[in-house]
Amino acid sequence: MKKRLVVGISGGSGIPLATELLSQLQKIEEIETHLVYTRGAEITAAQESELSMGEICALADVVYDNKDIGAAIASGTYKTVGMVVVPCSMKTVAGIHSGYTDNLLLRAADVTLKERRKLILVARECPFNTIHLRNLYELSQMGVEILPPMLTYYNHPQAVADCTRHIVGKILDRFDVEGEDFRRWNGCL
Ligand SMILES: Cc1cc2nc3c(=O)[nH]c(=O)nc-3n(C[C@H](O)[C@H](O)[C@H](O)COP(=O)(O)O)c2cc1C
Repeated sequence: MKKRLVVGISGGSGIPLATELLSQLQKIEEIETHLVYTRGAEITAAQESELSMGEICALADVVYDNKDIGAAIASGTYKTVGMVVVPCSMKTVAGIHSGYTDNLLLRAADVTLKERRKLILVARECPFNTIHLRNLYELSQMGVEILPPMLTYYNHPQAVADCTRHIVGKILDRFDVEGEDFRRWNGCL
């Protein structure tokens, strides 16, 4: 059976991170992507992505309606290898932090936590306020991995696409998948 990975897209800036992740995972035979996205993601995608929401959905294996709180990924009995929320807005961080699961993305994240599965939040805001930092800190204490899309320079990015691929490589690393053009630090380049 393929490994199911839940991908949540919320309304933080960074939709190209989600589309790059989904398109790289599309080429990984053993992983099946299960996509759920918020209304905020749709609005942000219209600003940030050349792809329509339909084209983004076409990159995933299974797509859920965020209002469908009875979908498969809403149950802990539905086996997955974990979930990544990319980008993860501060509203969605707050929802996960408080266990306020009023949409399917939040419910799926809550289930991932309760089943002690891997939960990665590509948390995006700049600067963070104290509420954001407190929520992220406390989620980290619960075992959630906080992976903000921070810039790196040691890999000598030439374009935004290089930065995007580097962050996606870091996300994929959490699931033991080698990202495309992922430049690791080996002591020197
Ligand atoms: C273009 C755009 C960029 C945004 N970037 C961020 C961001 O980086 N971080 C954030 O927390 N919210 C950001 N927002 C605001 C969220 O989309 C908004 O708070 C929304 O209610 C989040 O809801 P959701 O988490 O259910 O998607 C952005 C909104 C727009 C339109």
